[in-house]
Amino acid sequence: MTSPHASLIRALPKAELHLHIEGTLEPELMFALAQRNGMTLPYTDVEVLRAAYDFNNLQSFLDLYYAGAGVLITEADFYDLTWAYLLRAKADRIVHAEIFFDPQTHTDRGIAFGTAFNGIRRALDDAQLQLGISSKLIMSFLRHLSEEAGFATLEQAKPFLTRIDGVGLDSSEMGHPPSKFERLFAACRALGLSCVAHAGEEGPPAYVWEALDRLAVCRIDHGVRAMEDDALVARLKAIRMPLTVCPYSNVRLKVFPQLADHNLRQLLAAGLCATVNSDDPAYFGGYLQENYLGCDRELGLSRDDVLQLVRNSFEASWLAPEEKNAWLMECDAVARSYPA
Ligand code: ADE
Ligand code: ZN
Repeated sequence: MTSPHASLIRALPKAELHLHIEGTLEPELMFALAQRNGMTLPYTDVEVLRAAYDFNNLQSFLDLYYAGAGVLITEADFYDLTWAYLLRAKADRIVHAEIFFDPQTHTDRGIAFGTAFNGIRRALDDAQLQLGISSKLIMSFLRHLSEEAGFATLEQAKPFLTRIDGVGLDSSEMGHPPSKFERLFAACRALGLSCVAHAGEEGPPAYVWEALDRLAVCRIDHGVRAMEDDALVARLKAIRMPLTVCPYSNVRLKVFPQLADHNLRQLLAAGLCATVNSDDPAYFGGYLQENYLGCDRELGLSRDDVLQLVRNSFEASWLAPEEKNAWLMECDAVARSYPA
């Protein structure tokens, strides 16, 4: 079955707010970078590597994802990775992207913070000029590491902070609650950084409460398990807290058995500011537009749901109010030109 609103989805401008740049490393580029850097991968070819992308849960994915990132050595590698994503973003009519990078994944291998940062940053700057895609950059702390390690990373980031827009919290959720990073996030807020955190992906609603109350986040990444707690849903609704939902990711990491079981429509029906995002598209089999088309097909989204989701993506972004308003007006104009 095709997606009933495919042409509308393709035509609408979109913001992507939950995208790990390391999660856009396609097998072809992984092999090319390994060769360029004189490394040998433990897979004979891209098909064998792709076949290994059969995950049971978040951790089984993270193990491969961190290993894959090992081919990223030079600034040019980080540039090429980011540029490849931005070209795909352009094809999906993403006009604004808020991108995570995981500095500790690289600094722990002896790659300088600035090597990763400069490569990514330069591609983002080029994309603004050459592709008309605006962006924000979010430095994400690995929650399986200590808070002290996070503070050390924040120190390394200090020379670059004028070009970093916010901080996030990702990696293995279970056993690493947001409260573990309360002092680190307070230090980041004091530096003027916006804060987001992965919570309620595999972890319980209590982790979403902690992200709100102890990290003072302005968005929850994933948050799908919030639906298990009515009081939490009421709170998220009352403060219009955005959730950056990643449907294909949730299916590939077994948060939901299949796309048809995803709770995206329930999140919208509960009045929450849910958005659609791709998370780690090279590993989960679909970039942003595929996530929209898949949800449209499998969840039976209405035309209003589709429009609400793209509008939410701009509302939840860190664009300036006048930029948000301009994109919201463009969304409405596109929707008017695709009548029901
Ligand atoms: N790092 C990259 N993708 C992630 C995800 N879905 N959850 C937690 N950490 C991640
Ligand atoms: Zn994520």
